[in-house]
Amino acid sequence: MLALSFALLLFGSATATSGLALDAAQFSSLAKASNLSAWDTFNQTLNGRLQVGRPVSAPCFSVVDGKNVSVDATACAAVKAGYSAPTFRGPQYGSFMNPQWETCQSASQQCLLDATNTSDPAPTQSPCFQGSVAPYFINVTGPADVQKALAFSLSTGIPLSIKNSGHDYKGRSSGKDTLSLWMHGLQSMAYVPDFVPAGCKTKYNAMTMGTGVPWETAYDFADAHNLTIIGGYQETIATGGGWVQAGGHSILSPNFGLGIDRVVQFKLVTPDGQYRIANECQNTDLFWALRGGGGGTFGVVLETTQRVEPGMALQVASISFKQNATNPQAWLRLVVDNAKKWGSEGWGGHITAASLINVTPKLTLAQANASVQSVADYALAQTGGVAVVETLPSWNAFFKKYVLAAEAAVGVENVLGTRLMPTALWDNSTGRDAVYNYLTASLQWANPYIVVGTPYLYKYTPGSTSATPAWRDSLWHLGMHAGFNWNSTLAQKTTAYQIASNLTQMMRDISPGSGAYFNEGDVYETDHEFSYWGDNYPRLLSIKQKYDPHGLLQCWQCVGWKGQSDSRYSCYLPAITPQ
Ligand SMILES: Cc1cc2nc3c(=O)[nH]c(=O)nc-3n(C[C@H](O)[C@H](O)[C@H](O)COP(=O)(O)OP(=O)(O)OC[C@H]3O[C@@H](n4cnc5c(N)ncnc54)[C@H](O)[C@@H]3O)c2cc1C
Ligand SMILES: *[C@@H]1O[C@H](CO)[C@@H](O)[C@H](O)[C@H]1NC(C)=O
Ligand SMILES: *[C@@H]1O[C@H](CO)[C@@H](O)[C@H](O)[C@H]1NC(C)=O
Ligand SMILES: *[C@@H]1O[C@H](CO)[C@@H](O)[C@H](O)[C@H]1NC(C)=O
Ligand SMILES: *[C@@H]1O[C@H](CO)[C@@H](O)[C@H](O)[C@H]1NC(C)=O
Ligand SMILES: *[C@@H]1O[C@H](CO)[C@@H](O)[C@H](O)[C@H]1NC(C)=O
Ligand SMILES: *[C@@H]1O[C@H](CO)[C@@H](O)[C@H](O)[C@H]1NC(C)=O
Ligand SMILES: *[C@@H]1O[C@H](CO)[C@@H](O)[C@H](O)[C@H]1NC(C)=O
Ligand SMILES: *[C@@H]1O[C@H](CO)[C@@H](O)[C@H](O)[C@H]1NC(C)=O
Ligand SMILES: *[C@@H]1O[C@H](CO)[C@@H](O)[C@H](O)[C@H]1NC(C)=O
Ligand SMILES: *[C@@H]1O[C@H](CO)[C@@H](O)[C@H](O)[C@H]1NC(C)=O
Ligand SMILES: *[C@@H]1O[C@H](CO)[C@@H](O)[C@H](O)[C@H]1NC(C)=O
Repeated sequence: MLALSFALLLFGSATATSGLALDAAQFSSLAKASNLSAWDTFNQTLNGRLQVGRPVSAPCFSVVDGKNVSVDATACAAVKAGYSAPTFRGPQYGSFMNPQWETCQSASQQCLLDATNTSDPAPTQSPCFQGSVAPYFINVTGPADVQKALAFSLSTGIPLSIKNSGHDYKGRSSGKDTLSLWMHGLQSMAYVPDFVPAGCKTKYNAMTMGTGVPWETAYDFADAHNLTIIGGYQETIATGGGWVQAGGHSILSPNFGLGIDRVVQFKLVTPDGQYRIANECQNTDLFWALRGGGGGTFGVVLETTQRVEPGMALQVASISFKQNATNPQAWLRLVVDNAKKWGSEGWGGHITAASLINVTPKLTLAQANASVQSVADYALAQTGGVAVVETLPSWNAFFKKYVLAAEAAVGVENVLGTRLMPTALWDNSTGRDAVYNYLTASLQWANPYIVVGTPYLYKYTPGSTSATPAWRDSLWHLGMHAGFNWNSTLAQKTTAYQIASNLTQMMRDISPGSGAYFNEGDVYETDHEFSYWGDNYPRLLSIKQKYDPHGLLQCWQCVGWKGQSDSRYSCYLPAITPQ
C-alpha cells in the first residue's frame, strides 16, 4: 500500500519533470518483488541500464566472490598504472579515493593492490571480495533514474548509496549490498553571467554545473572565461556532491567563503520522489539544509549553480625544507605566532610540519614577500630549504603549477581526524601555546595538516547556512592523518582509527564548544550532531523527516543517523572511543 501510493506520487512528478516515468503496473510488480528477479524487473524499467558494480582491482584477481575467473591482463595493467591517480579512480564506479571503503573492513574481505608497489603479486594471491562496493549501480542521467531508484528501494527495502567522485573519508559513498546511484556522468557546464534563481529577482554572476563535474574541469572552464570559481584543493572532487553540501573549503575561502556560501541553487530529487529546485525563493528550508547539512541525506542533487568571481592574480608563497626530528618545532612556533596576522592579510593555504603553500589576492608581491619573510628565512637555513614568493595570473595557473603536485594522496588507506580551531585561541599566549604544544606533541604520531581555509574574512550572513557556526569563528581547520596498508591486520586498522580519534580528542580538549567539518571529521566523532551542526541540528532533523519520511537515504553520522547497529554499517570497525 505504502509502495503503491508512493509509486503514484512518483508517477505524477516524473511525468511532469522528465517524461520518463514508470507506469503503475511496473510499480506494483516492483512492490511485490522481494527476491533477485526484482533486479531484472528494475533493469527493464531502466531500459537495461542497470550495471554490475565490482571493485576496481577485480580484473587482477583469479578468484572473485568465490568464483574462479581469468585475470584480465589488459584491464589489470590499467588498474596497476592508475592505482594512485585520482583521474583514473574518479571516472569508474568501483573505485574510491580512500580504498578501504571498497572493502569490508570488519570482515577483512577486500580486493586491493599494494599501493606502494602495484606489481607486488602478494595481494592477488588471496581472493577478491565485493566488500562495500555496491553490486548494482545506475549511471544516473536525469531525475527519472533517481525517482525509479527511490521507488525500488521503498518497495524492496534494498538500501541505496550515492556515489559521486568517491572522495569520502567516512565510507558514505559506498555500501555493502546497496543499489548505488552514480552521479559522475552528469557533466554539463555553463557560464550564466546574469543567473536568476528560479522564482527570484536577484541576479548572480554564476556557473551552472552537473553534479559530477570535477573541480579541475570547472577551473579550466572558468579560466577560459577569465573567472575565478571557488573550489577544492584536488582535481577530481565533484563540484556538486558532498563537497558543496557539507561545507566545501577552498584556500580562497578566507576571502570568498565556503562552497555553502557560494551555491545559489540546487536541482534535486528529494526522497519523497519529487524533482525540486531549492534556492533562496523556493524550498528555502531545503536550500538551507543542503548548505551544510551534508551529502546523501536530503535528496539526490543533479545540478548546482555557484557564484563566480572575476579573474584575479594571486600572490603565492611556497616554502619548504627537509624535515628531521628537531626542525619542525621552531617552524611551527613561527607558524602559530604569525597565523592571525596572515589571516588578516587574506592568506589561505596548507601548512605542514616542514612546508607551506599559501595564496592571497589581497597583497602586492612586495607585501607578500615581507609577510612570510620570517618563515622563509627559517626554511632557507635548513637542509633542503626552498622559498618562492611569486605572482601568478590566475587561480588556474596556481592550481596547475602547485596543487596537482601537492594535493593529498589517493589510492592509500587514509584515516582522518580534524577540528575547527577557534580564533579565540590566538587571543593570548595561553591559547597560542596550547595550539603549539598540541602540534609538537602530535608529531610522534602524525604530521599536522593545517588547512588555512576557514571563511576568516568573508562577510557571512548569520543563519544562512546549516554547517556548524564554528566555521565562522575559526582561524584553522586542523587535520591529522593516520593510515594503513593493503595487508594491515584488523588490529592494525583499529590502531589507525584509534590514533586519529586520540589526536582529534586532544584538539577537542583545547577547543571546547567548537566543532568539526562533517566531510573530514573523525570517523568516530564523539557527539557528532553538535560537532558538525551545533544548534542547527534539531531543525536539520525536522527537515530530514519532512522530505524523507521513509528514511530512504541513510549514511554514517549523517543527519537522522540512528547509530552503528543498522546492518548497512556492518563493514565499519566496531566503535572506537577516543582517549
Ligand atoms: C584527496 C582529497 C582531497 C580533499 N580536499 C578537499 C578540499 O580541498 N576541500 C574540502 O572541502 N574537502 C576536501 N576533501 C573532502 C571532500 O570534500 C569530501 O570527501 C566530500 O565528501 C567529497 O564529495 P564527493 O561528492 O565528491 O564524494 P563522494 O565520496 O562521492 O560522496 C560524498 C558524500 O556525498 C554524497 N553525495 C555525493 N554526490 C551526491 C549528490 N549528487 N547528491 C546527494 N548526495 C551526494 C555521498 O552519498 C556521500 O555521502 C578532500 C578529500 C580527498 C580524498
Ligand atoms: C521471486 O519472486 C517471484 C515474483 O516476484 C516469484 O514468482 C518467485 O517464486 C520468487 N522466487 C523465490 C526464490 O522466492
Ligand atoms: C540489464 O539489462 C541489459 C539489457 O537486457 C543487460 O545487458 C544488462 O546486463 C542488465 N543488467 C544487469 C545488472 O543484469
Ligand atoms: C577453483 O580452482 C581451484 C583450483 O585452482 C579448485 O580447487 C577449486 O575447486 C575451484 N573453485 C571453484 C568454485 O570452481
Ligand atoms: C615491485 O614488486 C615487483 C614484484 O615483486 C618487484 O619485482 C619490484 O622490484 C618491486 N618494485 C619496487 C620498487 O619495490
Ligand atoms: C555513464 O554515462 C555517461 C553519460 O551520461 C557516459 O559518458 C559514460 O560513458 C557512462 N559510463 C558508464 C560506465 O556507463
Ligand atoms: C580578467 O578579468 C580581470 C578582472 O575583471 C581584468 O582585470 C583582466 O584584464 C581580465 N583579463 C583578461 C585577459 O581579459
Ligand atoms: C623578497 O625578500 C627578499 C629578502 O628577504 C629579497 O631577497 C627578495 O628579492 C624579495 N623578493 C621579491 C619578489 O620581492
Ligand atoms: C635537523 O636539521 C638541522 C638543519 O636543517 C640541523 O641543524 C639539526 O641538527 C638536525 N637535527 C637532527 C636531529 O638531525
Ligand atoms: C586567554 O584567552 C582565553 C580565550 O579568549 C581566555 O579564556 C583566557 O582567560 C585568556 N587567558 C589569559 C591569561 O588572559
Ligand atoms: C605487509 O607486507 C609488507 C611487505 O609488502 C611486509 O613488510 C609486512 O610485514 C606485511 N604486514 C603484515 C601485517 O603482514
Ligand atoms: C590513545 O590514547 C590513550 C591515552 O593516551 C593511549 O593509552 C592509547 O595507547 C592511544 N592509542 C593509540 C593507538 O595511540
